[in-house]
Amino acid sequence: MQLYTRDVGGGTPLVLLHAFPLSSAMWLAQREGLAARFRVITPDLRGFGGSPLGADDPSVDAMADDVAALLDTLGIERAIVGGLSMGGYVTLAFCRRHAERVLGAVLADTKATADADGAREARIRTAERLEAEESVSVLLDDLLPRLVGPTTMRQRALVYGRVRGLVQSTPPLAAAWAQRAMAARPDSTEALADFRTPTLILQGAEDTIVSEEDARRMAEALPNAELIMIPGSGHLTAVEQPQLFNDAVTEFGAALTRTLR
Ligand code: MLT
Repeated sequence: MQLYTRDVGGGTPLVLLHAFPLSSAMWLAQREGLAARFRVITPDLRGFGGSPLGADDPSVDAMADDVAALLDTLGIERAIVGGLSMGGYVTLAFCRRHAERVLGAVLADTKATADADGAREARIRTAERLEAEESVSVLLDDLLPRLVGPTTMRQRALVYGRVRGLVQSTPPLAAAWAQRAMAARPDSTEALADFRTPTLILQGAEDTIVSEEDARRMAEALPNAELIMIPGSGHLTAVEQPQLFNDAVTEFGAALTRTLR
């Protein structure tokens, strides 16, 4: 699968994988703020933005393999690979399947556990509605209000408007496919002990989709991880508090480069 990719800047390659149900457009502030230090590579995961959906069965592993194929196409052997929420699930799958290509990992507002039974059933129901209605109204009603935190809603209503626009432009069948892929994702908790690469975990303090507890559990299970809480942010730290997000990634990248020298 050939992914549509926004690719800017120069330096250490930094791949950033977007959340559900958004696209690489969510990384605007990272492309602007990090390009002086990194080659910032932000693909649209399959079905989203400019990337085709393809005919494979839904799985986060297929999404991770798309990213490996993208690195091949770009001639990049190793990169810092990071993702937010669904992008984090894909990053974890990438670390399981392509560990030798990971210089460092960034896991933002995500978790290593699989869905609990109730959450998995709810996802399948959402996928069925997306397919039957061929509309994203179920996402606008049920998910959008939880994507950004109360501080953003109070102080930065334009950010909410932008996120709403991204949700509205998501193709319903791609969203259904991704829901099924997330529902089928394995629990990565045990695999974390084998992830030796430095990992930065970022977590919005006001996130109600992924909890601080989820983030702490990953930090404890990983041999080489640092957790940074992002104040004044809900689930979409990179969009809601871009400066804090970018500062943390810049510092992480600098420390990584020092250890590689
Ligand atoms: C996301 O932000 O990518 C999704 O909310 C993740 C999920 O549904 O588990």
